Amino acid sequence: MTSDIRHFTDLSAVPAAELRSMLTDAGARKAEIKAGRRSRPLEGKVLAMIFDKPSTRTRVSFDVGMRQLGGETIMLTGTEMQLGRSETIADTAKVLSRYVDAIMIRTTQHERLLELTENATVPVINGLTDDTHPCQLMADIMTFEEHRGPVAGKTFAWVGDGNNVLHSLLEASARFDFNLRIAVPEGSEPADRYVDWSKANGGDIRLTRSAEEAVEDVDCVVTDCWVSMGQEHRARGHNVFLPYQVNERLMQRARPDALFMHCLPAHRGEEVTDAVIDGPHSVVFDEAENRLHAQKAVLAWCLRA
Ligand code: CP
Ligand code: NVA
Repeated sequence: MTSDIRHFTDLSAVPAAELRSMLTDAGARKAEIKAGRRSRPLEGKVLAMIFDKPSTRTRVSFDVGMRQLGGETIMLTGTEMQLGRSETIADTAKVLSRYVDAIMIRTTQHERLLELTENATVPVINGLTDDTHPCQLMADIMTFEEHRGPVAGKTFAWVGDGNNVLHSLLEASARFDFNLRIAVPEGSEPADRYVDWSKANGGDIRLTRSAEEAVEDVDCVVTDCWVSMGQEHRARGHNVFLPYQVNERLMQRARPDALFMHCLPAHRGEEVTDAVIDGPHSVVFDEAENRLHAQKAVLAWCLRA
């Protein structure tokens, strides 16, 4: 890997000050678009996007973001590439680096992302792996701060499955200096390495089995689907997760001004009720919108624009 290439693989791989300046840039770029102005710092640049899993938000927000910045995209699916016929990730990285200026990948094993990163000579962006989803957390922190001001010192609760979004939330808690309470059923715990990294980097993390305990007086309640893409083989009975459903009764235990967040897509009636996701605490569509603005800042950072 060429060391001066700016990859966006994980929040743990980018210094806190750089993440913070990306969020500042994201806010400025959002204000610019809302004011009807467009700068085109990525004119002539091309982003290749590889999807090994489905996507609505990531796919459209990266595509629109590149266009707003003056650049272009190429949408690829792993199965339609020679990747699907066993060309290696490493060779694919070397070839794509000869054509495009940056690569965004949504894939399965995190190792595939890392192999791409190690062999590409252009920036690589993580658009979700089985392990993490850092672009989501950039949008989520941006959203929290738009509604409630600085996130530092606030307390978030995660209830549900200990998945890729939680792993990035753990990294975000250390990078942006907020507290995190986690309630998951037995067998759905986040991977130790993410908990350990966050704690070693200043994160105030507490794990419990009780959703009620986790959300007590918090500033933000976050959940996600009970079964992530590609994890269907790990699927467990919904009864296991029902005590972790975010409903009005659970939200009442959080602070009266607590926000509700969900990366979407939501499974209404499972991890969250209609009353909560459509209710006064919910900022889920602001999160979805901010994927666009936050990722434009990520793209500009990666390409030094
Ligand atoms: N939240 C998110 O990444 O959504 P998509 O799967 O639609 O991209
Ligand atoms: N945890 C979910 C996030 C979807 C954006 C999944 O991986 O399917």
